Amino acid sequence: MSQRTLVLLKPDAVRRGLVGEILGRIERKAGWTIGALEMRTLERGILEQHYAEHVGRPFYEPLVEFMESGPSVALVVEGERVVEGLRALAGPTDPIAAAPGSIRGDFGTIVRENLVHASDSQESADREIKLFFPGLA
Ligand code: PPS
Repeated sequence: MSQRTLVLLKPDAVRRGLVGEILGRIERKAGWTIGALEMRTLERGILEQHYAEHVGRPFYEPLVEFMESGPSVALVVEGERVVEGLRALAGPTDPIAAAPGSIRGDFGTIVRENLVHASDSQESADREIKLFFPGLA
């Protein structure tokens, strides 16, 4: 089933020069394509909407501060089972629990600096794509 999902390459991925590596992993998956892509420093307003469900949790404020600390790359990925597929490619939230071969498992150690965000459901993906790419049909 063809789907669309929203992926963020977080400021640590950009600072560490891992954008090409991560985009390459996504592009090499059979049938997946990048439908939109933009690099920019995310402002607090969009981050507050994006992470609204986590307001009040201990990691919320440090997460938002980290996410506004430098440019991110936002992209829409399209293709077969991309919602589930991107979550698997990213690995679990804590990079130390992530298996080698996943993005977090290969490149991460710190929970906050876990390199990528990928929508957790088709409903989240639809909402997040509208938020980050309002002009996209
Ligand atoms: S939950 O409970 O399943 O909703 O939480 P989870 O999906 O694991 O995490 C939600 C987002 O918060 C980030 N996160 C953290 N950031 C910083 N520090 C800590 N300790 C932390 N724990 C979770 C996590 O990476 C998720 O953000 P995204 O952007 O989706 O990766």
